[in-house]
Amino acid sequence: ATAEKGGYDHFMLKEIHEQPKAIRDTLASRTKNGLVDLSKEISLSKEEIQNIEKIHFVACGTAYHAGMVGKYVFEELARIPVECDVASEYRYRNPIITERTLVIVVSQSGETADTLAALREAKKQGARVVAITNVVGSSVAREADDVIITWAGPEIAVASTKAYTSQLIAIYLLGVYFAQVRGHKSAAELQEIVTHLQELPGKAEQVLKLEKSIESFARSIAKHQNLFFLGRGLDFAVALEGSLKLKEISYIHSEAYAAGELKHGTLALIEENIPVISLATQKSVYDKMVSNIQEVKARGAHILGLAVEGDTELRKSVDEVIRIPATIDLLTPVLAVIPLQLIAYYACVERGYDVDKPRNLAKSVTVE
Ligand code: G6P
Repeated sequence: ATAEKGGYDHFMLKEIHEQPKAIRDTLASRTKNGLVDLSKEISLSKEEIQNIEKIHFVACGTAYHAGMVGKYVFEELARIPVECDVASEYRYRNPIITERTLVIVVSQSGETADTLAALREAKKQGARVVAITNVVGSSVAREADDVIITWAGPEIAVASTKAYTSQLIAIYLLGVYFAQVRGHKSAAELQEIVTHLQELPGKAEQVLKLEKSIESFARSIAKHQNLFFLGRGLDFAVALEGSLKLKEISYIHSEAYAAGELKHGTLALIEENIPVISLATQKSVYDKMVSNIQEVKARGAHILGLAVEGDTELRKSVDEVIRIPATIDLLTPVLAVIPLQLIAYYACVERGYDVDKPRNLAKSVTVE
């Protein structure tokens, strides 16, 4: 059994460590000369891409959190308005879909019942559908107009890790591809993004080298019943995923908050020694984030700050700090999520639960 886990104790840990490869494989052959080429996978013509008037990301669970990153990516790079919905809401809420709506469904398995139903509904109403999935020949892959496969390889652990980071890569590739066609960014700007994308596998490897210090923080929170994740912008999307990971396998209750919302409720729950994981990787909202951190610090929270290499400021306001390699703000989710996956993993190990098969949960939810 350890052999099929590649020497790791659990599939989840193996899959966390497979992320540099999954990212590399998902990028491979889709970039050349600083450009993204998805022409073999995306049948939309140049004109059709130019005519898209809105995008709907539709997915469940971790894939939904990838879609939330997608909202930022497509609005930033292609200036197309984006909504992101969980599939079980989307399919029953009578969304406004036209022939110029692009629906992007994200599903690791390609078999999630709600996601598949949302895809069918979108097609029925005339939308074009692109699927981002990890399984060639899955239902979602077969029924969508176009498919971008994430080359993460089989994911066994119920808690999704390498599928998520590969979904992010697929989203970046499609975002840059659309930006090239729609011309909202200069070629030089897009090339810079592609260069940074290509550096991600190596940088993900560097994040994994921080494992020991992440493990010790994770074991220290294992006795807690509640904790919070805070972030702004893309860090908020990653915070949601970190919180989900922790809930799924360690059964510690946690909430992820857009840090600016703290004052509107959550601050009332901050008490002495409550762990707060604060992401501060986004330059555009860095100062705002630091003042939010100081607000929770003043109420006695024990804070782990997630910062970018070269940041010497954050440690003044937090109790512990983890630094991920620097990249452009847009791409940080790929690196920032890895410490959060490891925190969930080691908190679960410390509490003695079954990492790969959490109670009540299934890898793929094929019934409603
Ligand atoms: C289940 C899994 C999650 C996954 C979600 C969506 O809840 O436990 O890890 O994110 O389904 O699955 P999909 O295969 O559509 O990405």
